[in-house]
Amino acid sequence: MPGPLLEATEGDTIRLTVNNEDKSLSTAIHFHGMHQKETPWMDGVAQITQCPLGPMQSQTYEFKAYPAGTHYWHAHFSTQIADGLTGPLIVHPKEGDYNDNYDVEDRILFLQDFYLQTSQQQATGLLNYPFTWIGNPDSLLINGKGIASKCLEGGSNFEDPNACLSTCTTDDAPSQLLSTINVESLKTYRLRLINSAQLIMMNVAIQDHNMTIIEVEGTIVDPKTVSNIDIAPGQRISVLITTDQPPGNYMIETTVRERNIPGLTGRAILAYSNRNGIAIDSTLSLNMTEPLLAYSYRNGNAINSTLSLNMAESLPHPLWNETTRLDKNTGEEDALLWAMNNISSTKTANPLIGSAVAQSQTINNSEDSRPGPNLGSEETAVIRAEKGQVIEIVFQNARALNGVAEFHPWHMHGHSFWVIGRGEGIYDPESDIDSYNLRNPLLRDTVTLWPLGWVAVRFVANNAGVWSIHCHLTSHLVMGMAFNLITNPNEIGDPSDSVKFCNSARLDPPQSKKNE
Ligand code: C2O
Ligand code: CU
Repeated sequence: MPGPLLEATEGDTIRLTVNNEDKSLSTAIHFHGMHQKETPWMDGVAQITQCPLGPMQSQTYEFKAYPAGTHYWHAHFSTQIADGLTGPLIVHPKEGDYNDNYDVEDRILFLQDFYLQTSQQQATGLLNYPFTWIGNPDSLLINGKGIASKCLEGGSNFEDPNACLSTCTTDDAPSQLLSTINVESLKTYRLRLINSAQLIMMNVAIQDHNMTIIEVEGTIVDPKTVSNIDIAPGQRISVLITTDQPPGNYMIETTVRERNIPGLTGRAILAYSNRNGIAIDSTLSLNMTEPLLAYSYRNGNAINSTLSLNMAESLPHPLWNETTRLDKNTGEEDALLWAMNNISSTKTANPLIGSAVAQSQTINNSEDSRPGPNLGSEETAVIRAEKGQVIEIVFQNARALNGVAEFHPWHMHGHSFWVIGRGEGIYDPESDIDSYNLRNPLLRDTVTLWPLGWVAVRFVANNAGVWSIHCHLTSHLVMGMAFNLITNPNEIGDPSDSVKFCNSARLDPPQSKKNE
């Protein structure tokens, strides 16, 4: 891990066949950030847009590479992303972009959290009664490499200390344990940060180098220079760095945000090379115990460097005529399930897209044009939109029953949304609307809902299909923190029976009994 890089130019058709060579596990592959315009059944979400791809089966995905930007692909089946079934997906613009602003090819920093437990063990624990939390990751990875937390001072995360003994006692130089990003002096590079973790929001910093944010999830932003960046699971951020420091090696570091996990950091090496591409300092010594950033758990002084980003002025600005508003209360329904407006998403036996199409064929016109989105259905949380409708969703963070409020990175499929407002405490529809940025809000597809805060997003429902909207912490997702947007199902064609009905052999492991 990570899996292979997929690279395309905007507008290309990507055709990709997934061969599931595992003899017992199912999967589904989602292309995170791709809008899948007119190909909603290629979205790769098990139980929503397709049946799980069973053991020893193949499936071909075909869709347009759009929009340009930094994206990734990942398993969208249970918590399987934690097994490392994920990799970068870069879509280059047809022309322009930032190519003029940086010298050589760009570099990817692919961020993951790593668990010794398999994702199956994790999902079983999350859905079982009694509930078992997945625990903390055992390492943070950058481009597939990292140090076991046990091996860092203060790390105490390993249940089985032997599991990492070899890592701890190795005589290998840090350069072999960690990923190395090779750069030349006095050049400007674009680094593409991609957080594909299951659980961990990370703060990224590079020793002695500032970063200038230029792109967020496909949107070119007014450049902003920062010393460190928060990036939540599902988010992608491009930065420019200039290699203007004395030739040498510099630490790239990720630290854990919003969770108290002493000693867990991810590391990689930014290595200046001479013109022949040979690292100047091959016997680099790195201080392994002192984090670059002393962010402690909720110490209140962490800066969220992406909060005030604005869309570049040259981009088309949103038009707000008829906006339908919807509040989403993100709390916990009972000890085991997450719920929005007291509805927790549950899995259906057959993909929702098939049921939506079937339903649209039987519903008469007057029912079909019901006004505005509504929430609720017997089996799963659903909102409906008419094509062209502008929808505003206010996500309100509430405490879970254990009294804790957590952050939730909300991700939307098939669209990007404008982040028009955010605040602390309870959203007040009377006054908070005055604080909205309707001029140049950031257009993105994954937004952090901070503990006990709210965030308001707007999007144009311009994509017929069935689109998942969910917390991108996959351990929350499997516990129901998700709902779906259904837009004009009558327009998406009739998917084949293999999309509409899953044979039982291909089903996700059955959801265990909920705490009644
Ligand atoms: Cu990365 Cu449902 O998405
Ligand atoms: Cu969540």
